[in-house]
Amino acid sequence: MITEQDPTKLMKQQVAKAAADRVTSGTIVGLGSGSTAAYMIQFLGERLQSGQLQDIKGIPTSFQSTVLARKYGIPLTTLDEVDQIDVAIDGADEVDPQKNLIKGGGAAHTREKIVDCLAEQFIVVVDSSKLVDKLGSTFLLPVEVIPTAVSPVMRAIAKLGGQPELRMAVKKAGPVVTDQGNLVIDVKFDYIDNPGEMEKSLNNIPGVLENGLFVGVADIILVGEIQDGQPIIKEIS
Ligand code: 5RP
Repeated sequence: MITEQDPTKLMKQQVAKAAADRVTSGTIVGLGSGSTAAYMIQFLGERLQSGQLQDIKGIPTSFQSTVLARKYGIPLTTLDEVDQIDVAIDGADEVDPQKNLIKGGGAAHTREKIVDCLAEQFIVVVDSSKLVDKLGSTFLLPVEVIPTAVSPVMRAIAKLGGQPELRMAVKKAGPVVTDQGNLVIDVKFDYIDNPGEMEKSLNNIPGVLENGLFVGVADIILVGEIQDGQPIIKEIS
């Protein structure tokens, strides 16, 4: 049940519920990361517990989604056990009009990209503040890097026109360490003109594991909005 009053949280919950409601019994579901995906995992768990949904298996994209899936009673599987994912549901930090994304606000974009790209259908769940005309205009682009390569990767990113910054942890001394034991460089661009080219250029730098540009991956964007004081869901497909 949704009783939230904070508008952003309300939009996230509504859109997460709308996405969880689309999951059907007997399917393999990619479980995204972040606060919106966390609500989606909770709603999926509630549907399972009520018997409305049966026999699904989740593939988590992070330590966070693994823990949440266990908490809400969603059985898990791995990419070794299954050869297809029916649907993946995940949040995003920016969405452009072509449904390209920036992800990685939670430093989980490497596993998210693996799972989201493998899904037959990838549904993105965002509140309306995430819609932008050009990627990179409001959010720094996350790049996961092998620790020993941080300095050369930063220099290479500067040559591509970005301003790199090592992501530092909160409530832990030193940098953010990813679920894979790597570090994250956040890159400031004025905006990213050609996301497809930038995705490839960044991933070509030795030491880069994966960057947060998701180009041509999303099938459906569900956007939570507040209109006349009421939460509504818009679909971009
Ligand atoms: C994590 C992500 C998240 O999906 C993204 O940061 C959006 O998070 P939220 O739903 O909390 O706004 O990419 O790596």
